[in-house]
Amino acid sequence: MNSKQLINTLHTHKTLLIMKNKIIVGLIVVLIAIQFVPTEKNLSNDNTYAIETKYEVPADVKVLLENACNDCHSNKSTYPWYSNVQPVGFWLDHHVNDGKKHLNFATFTKLPIAVQNHKLEETIEQVESGEMPMPSYTYFGLHSNAKLSDADRAKIINWAKSQMAMLKASYPADSLKMKPRKKS
Ligand code: HEC
Repeated sequence: MNSKQLINTLHTHKTLLIMKNKIIVGLIVVLIAIQFVPTEKNLSNDNTYAIETKYEVPADVKVLLENACNDCHSNKSTYPWYSNVQPVGFWLDHHVNDGKKHLNFATFTKLPIAVQNHKLEETIEQVESGEMPMPSYTYFGLHSNAKLSDADRAKIINWAKSQMAMLKASYPADSLKMKPRKKS
């Protein structure tokens, strides 16, 4: 390698180092900036149409739902400290919003009766299959009281079944059938 080549190599090396530093600084700036993005927390705690206003929810089942489901399926989430650290908070907000969209125990009785019946059925399926609570909810020993034992699962399932039986006894069979969605 002659001296010209050596200078060229050193020059390329320096340029790469500067680029690398710029990327790192850029990432740090972005990480700091996203800490200030405003987010809306799920804290209204509006229970006007809560499931317990129309259904019987025994105390032990209520505790299980509170511990294992309500952070994502009610109008009040309990936020851990790391929810204030972005982008973790964004990720949690996404679960809460998505979870509430699919099932909200705090607005349950507002749904058409067939849908209420269907959501109870889905609750049975999700708990039976172990899909809910979401596995990531209990990662790293987090939310340890949301880890359901077989007995806990059975309690929720039997409760949902008994509520479906109650609906079946109270409403004409036809009104509990889900209507196929209208094509738009
Ligand atoms: C960490 C948030 C979180 C927790 C805790 C959680 N869920 Fe969910 N749940 C979701 C999300 C997100 C969805 C929608 C996406 C999906 O189905 O995976 C969902 C979907 C569901 C559905 C499907 C509803 C539908 O219309 O398809 C049911 C039923 C359900 N959850 C029941 C429960 C029950 C019962 C518990 C407690 C034992 C629970 N979930 C705990 C986030 C959560």
